[in-house]
Amino acid sequence: MCGIVSILSFEDDISKKLIGALERLEYRGYDSAGLAFIDKNSNLQRIRSVGKIEELRRRINKITIKSNIGIAHTRWATHGKVTEGNAHPHVSNGVAIVHNGIIENYQELKKKLLKENFEFESETDTEVIAALIAFHIKNGNNFEQAFKNTILELKGTFAIVAIYEKETNILLGAKKGSPMAIGFSEDERSYYIASDAIALSSLAKNIIYLEEGDIVKIEKQDKLNYTIFNSSIHMTKRNIIPNNVSLSDVSKNGYETFMLKEIFEEATIVRNIYNNFDYDINISDLDSISIIACGTSYYAGLLAKYWIEDIAQIHVDVEIASEFRYRNPVIFSNTLYIFISQSGETIDTLCAMRMVKELGRKTLALVNVETSSIAREADYMIKLFAGVEIGVASTKAFVVQALSLLLLCVKKQDFKIDFLEDLINSVLNNKYQLSHIAEKIKDSRSFFYIGRGINYPIALEGALKIKELSYVSAEGYPAGEIKHGPIAIIDENVYTIALAPFDKYFEKTISNTQEILARNGKIILITTEKARDHLHGLESSKNVYCVFIPDSDEPYTSFPLITVIHLLAYYTSKSKGYDVDKPRNLAKSVTVE
Ligand code: AGP
Ligand code: GLU
Repeated sequence: MCGIVSILSFEDDISKKLIGALERLEYRGYDSAGLAFIDKNSNLQRIRSVGKIEELRRRINKITIKSNIGIAHTRWATHGKVTEGNAHPHVSNGVAIVHNGIIENYQELKKKLLKENFEFESETDTEVIAALIAFHIKNGNNFEQAFKNTILELKGTFAIVAIYEKETNILLGAKKGSPMAIGFSEDERSYYIASDAIALSSLAKNIIYLEEGDIVKIEKQDKLNYTIFNSSIHMTKRNIIPNNVSLSDVSKNGYETFMLKEIFEEATIVRNIYNNFDYDINISDLDSISIIACGTSYYAGLLAKYWIEDIAQIHVDVEIASEFRYRNPVIFSNTLYIFISQSGETIDTLCAMRMVKELGRKTLALVNVETSSIAREADYMIKLFAGVEIGVASTKAFVVQALSLLLLCVKKQDFKIDFLEDLINSVLNNKYQLSHIAEKIKDSRSFFYIGRGINYPIALEGALKIKELSYVSAEGYPAGEIKHGPIAIIDENVYTIALAPFDKYFEKTISNTQEILARNGKIILITTEKARDHLHGLESSKNVYCVFIPDSDEPYTSFPLITVIHLLAYYTSKSKGYDVDKPRNLAKSVTVE
């Protein structure tokens, strides 16, 4: 999702800080970028570019920027094509703004402003915000009041920051549905408004996360000061917290990409969550559990369903958040509602959680970003301790999401965390076998990932990973379902990744792979050492490639399988020369519907 960063300072070298912050926001996913500032002659200047931030940096390096106030943005287009004209900041009559979110009533506002002879140059919803502020200024309001009037007219979701060339000592921001933080430099000579703490790492020693409906005014007089107004436009206070995101959190630490670093962290972070898992959540008295999430986080919930129902014998529903919230679901009294989100800002999950809270049920959130909206609004929170996850494709967070839910239904003292670390490390130490397989499969355009029982949710996760990283068609399927239709797709151009550890589903999954082979399908069989003597000659087939991982009993086996499918997706994308950290069209945190 897009990124916002802005600064009001006593220094006049703001462009370096803004561009550096935008680069730290790249992980959120974007398609264009821009920056606006007010120069020493009180003229508003703007530079924008499509594509990567390097292009914006190149354009900025061509000019000299001496300014104390500026705003910058990485855009993830929702309204209007990916063009320079649609890139933010948007400007109207000396007002410049950047925006994350969607203005749902923008057409109505645009019609009103066109009648007032305002002109528009872009196709975006965002541009109406700048024009509406200018409209209120034109009608006799100062910048602050014009901004407040505008915010009260907007419907939808937004994190907005605005500057005005005729009031160069004021920076204004507003938050509704999209994340926003204020940051304070250690020397108190620069204040910031940005999307998150990562943007402000190395800039702000302390930060404040704004609440829903908050408006913030930062003003430069003899010193910098800030005022926060709540949704009723009354002054309010919010907690100042240290900015715990350090630069090392957002560096690759010697790995080629963030994603590879984060996959390799899977072996170590399981101990973080294990050591910190100290919650008196007793699920045994519950009638049921309902897990609500999106994407990879949803698959973590599906995986947990198998464990919780098998181990704790409690019924578990797992729901796609964007479906759940509009389905008018039946909400039960003795059900625990769990929301899983790495970013803690996914609007579908956040709104589903708000709906459940409004219906009077308690909510538990599993979140990696403890300062996020979902973490702050949930009744209870389990922090994932995965560390900052920059790669858009979620990997290590999925592992700790699954482990957190598993620890809800096993006795911690009985859980063999050392054994789990060794299992994951055994896959990581064997990564080249997976990069070799990636070379074999990289040109295929169509994949199935299949598994039975507990292996099926991992098949779904594997399919999503290769889809989002290699831009190919991939379906996760219950192995037993392939013969009920999908097998019609199988031919020599289709690879099937079969997850078949030597468990109670092994023989049946092998039968399913035989059915695929009989139709010239190609198989990557991910299995365990004990299966070597039970492959019935499968391993010698020219259309089968076997990967053997160490044996273990459930629930441990799932974890090395997860690392295998993560590495396979990673190396397949790398072998195609794609940007594995920032796959096309994707955002790390989807804060729009
Ligand atoms: C995962 O690789 C994807 N990037 C995506 O499906 C992601 O899991 C989903 O958007 C949910 O994000 P969240 O965990 O931050 O809520
Ligand atoms: N809706 C705005 C646009 O399409 C903002 C999108 C974003 O959050 O980046 O420009």
